[in-house]
Amino acid sequence: MKEFIIKNEEDTRAFGCDLAKSLKPGDVIAMIGDLGTGKTTLTKYIAAGLGIEETVTSPTFTVVQEYKSGRLPLYHFDVYRVNDPDELFEIGFEEYLYSDGAVIVEWGDLVYDLLPEHSIILQLEYGEGEGERIYKIAEKEELKCTF
Ligand SMILES: Nc1ncnc2c1ncn2[C@@H]1O[C@H](COP(=O)(O)OP(=O)(O)OP(=O)(O)O)[C@@H](O)[C@H]1O
Ligand SMILES: [Mg+2]
Repeated sequence: MKEFIIKNEEDTRAFGCDLAKSLKPGDVIAMIGDLGTGKTTLTKYIAAGLGIEETVTSPTFTVVQEYKSGRLPLYHFDVYRVNDPDELFEIGFEEYLYSDGAVIVEWGDLVYDLLPEHSIILQLEYGEGEGERIYKIAEKEELKCTF
């Protein structure tokens, strides 16, 4: 597991941009972190790093938002309000997971068992100062005993 100390939103922007450069079709990033730790904010910077021009908004109510104007399609999920896994199957969650784009899932812990083994698990925690965050990153495969 790798750990990153993010001092402020500018660090989040740099981190998101760098991460975007490494993304390939079929990559899945599951974000796990409390309300307001910055899952959507980081997603906005990843989208910017992919060259996405549309405004990225939180998919809390729509569950998924698709962005196609960047280097790769980005499928951005927020599963916080999904009560029933059937709802996810109906919108084709599994097809998105094995598609031509990159997938980001906010509240990935709620659908953990559905995530592919190659998913990147990104935990976001509050740090000490107001803008500080701690990111812990690992592949799902590495974490077999943790979750
Ligand atoms: N280093 C940082 N990285 C990201 N956001 C930060 C940082 N410092 C402060 N913030 C602020 O924290 C808030 C994060 O809100 P955001 O909606 O991105 O969180 P979230 O994890 O997606 O929340 P939710 O669980 O409601 O979806 C924003 O208001 C943002 O400006
Ligand atoms: Mg959010």
